[in-house]
This record gives sequence, C-alpha cells and structure tokens, in this order.
Amino acid sequence: LTAAIVGCPFSGGQPRVGVDQGPIHMVEAGLVEQLTELGWKVKFDGHHQFEEVNGITDPPIGKLKNPRLVSTVTEAVAKAVGGHANKGELPVTLGGDHSLAMGTISGTLDAHPDACVIWIDAHADINTAESTDSGNIHGMPVSFLLGLGSPIPEFGWVKPILKPERLVYIGLRDVDAGEKRILKENKIKAFSMHEVDKYGIGKVVEMALDHVNPKRAFPIHLSFDVDALDPSVAPSTGTPVRGGLTFREGHYICEAIWETGLLVALDLMEVNPSLADAASVKQTVAVGCSLVRAALGETLL
Ligand code: ARG
Ligand code: MN
Ligand code: MN
Ligand code: MN
Repeated sequence: LTAAIVGCPFSGGQPRVGVDQGPIHMVEAGLVEQLTELGWKVKFDGHHQFEEVNGITDPPIGKLKNPRLVSTVTEAVAKAVGGHANKGELPVTLGGDHSLAMGTISGTLDAHPDACVIWIDAHADINTAESTDSGNIHGMPVSFLLGLGSPIPEFGWVKPILKPERLVYIGLRDVDAGEKRILKENKIKAFSMHEVDKYGIGKVVEMALDHVNPKRAFPIHLSFDVDALDPSVAPSTGTPVRGGLTFREGHYICEAIWETGLLVALDLMEVNPSLADAASVKQTVAVGCSLVRAALGETLL
C-alpha cells in the first residue's frame, strides 16, 4: 500500500496568511515517518511549488477573490492527485485552504468516477459566485464540483462531476443562509453538530455512510477541514467556530471510514500555524497528523 503525500502550501482561497505553512509543519512534525511506521510505503517528493502561478495578475471576477490563482493551483492539484490515484496510490493532500478540494476531488473522480465524498467541516463550503458574501473561494469548492451557480470561464477546467447524492457532510454549524437554501434545493444530506449531539458520532457516521454509500460499494474521498474540530482541540485555523467535534469524535470519523476499506483519498485542510500561540500551533499540527494516521489505519489497540 502506497500513500502519496501531496503538500499544498496554498492560501489563495481565503485572506489570512499562514495557512500555506500548514503542510510544511505537518511534514516537519514527522507525518511521513508516522505513516511509514504504520506500514505504508510513503511517497513524498516535496511540497508543490505551483510555479504555474508566477506572473498571474488576478483582479476579482465579480465577488470572487484570486480567481485565476485558485483555478490554476487547483487544476495542478487535480492533476497531481489524479495521477497518484490512477496509479492505485492513496493521495493524502495537506492544505492549505479548502479551495484545494476543488482539485483533490476532481482528481479522485477522474480515477474513481463513482467515488462518494464525505466532507467534515464547520462550514458547507458550497457558496456559489452569486451567494458568497466573502468572495473567498475556500467557501465555494463544493458548488463548483456540483456545477451549481453560473459558469465562470476561468474555471472551465472544473467538470461538474460530483452528484449531490454522493456527498454528505458531518460537523456543520456555521452555514450561510444562501448555503442552507442550496443544500435544501439539491437535497444534500448534512449532519450538523445538532445531529452529532442527538445521535452520537457512531450513529451519525453510520447514517452518513448509509446515505452516500448504502451498499458500501463506492470508493470514499474524505475531505477533512480541521475547523470541524472544536477550537479548544484545533485552535490554529482561519475560521474557527465554537461547538465543534471533540478530539475523539474527529478521530472516530477517520477510524470508521478506514474500517470500511473504501478510502481512496484524504484531504487534511486549513491548518494555519501562524494563528494562535506556539503551544496551540503545536497542538493543532499534532491533531492534524493524528487524524491522518487514524484515517490510514492507526488503531487504539
Ligand atoms: N461560509 C463562509 C464563506 O463563504 C466561510 C467559509 C469557510 N470555509 C473554510 N474552508 N474554512 O466565506
Ligand atoms: Mn506527487
Ligand atoms: Mn471550515
Ligand atoms: Mn472547509
């Protein structure tokens, strides 16, 4: 079994500096060695340099900020992830901001067209060019993958290949009004923190899998935004929201997905080592590594 680390030091999908350092910190914390220790053959050929973006001038398109930059980088990420996935390797993409998932999920679906997506996040990241208030594209990747909103020529490479019934969310608690409407209109299944409280994480993961993968036959892409965790667990992230997943709930999700035997790609996004004090940064980076290990088969016993 080969895991391919795709380090994506990229912050163009949101305004706060530092999230591009997330992957660098996670690798420096020993992630490659930790996965090797678990029995994986680990490929890591250095962090992406995104030379494609040199010299891009990038005024907003409508409300969208850094559109050409985000499009160019995510297209490169789609190729990297798709390349690994097509070779039968498991791409582990380290962000960087969550706009990168436009690329990672495109790459996964290129290799595994029937894959489903399990999106763990405080946010739905499903704004369209019309519904976004912030203009930050990390709040929008899902709408591009679903083909919602009016097409933007600069993002012409993104194929609307994700079907709403192949997507499920866990952990939501900060969803914009426009996003709530989009979720309803497209009948997208979401388990907010309310459902986590009500049913417990074990039942929620089972219900999420039953919805998106009823016969446990489809490959799974797990996209994990570290801000799904409570800020007391993962403080160093750009858009923290209180009332999040506990340390164990986050890990349980990763463990349960691993147990399906269906995981084909993993994203660990939005670790920002420039936010909060040194101890908080260390804690967040360690939690990020630990979630990746849990998703790649680390067991408690
Ligand atoms: N919904 C807000 C927006 O559209 C916040 C998105 C936060 N996304 C994230 N990947 N942290 O700007
Ligand atoms: Mn690579
Ligand atoms: Mn988020
Ligand atoms: Mn996100």
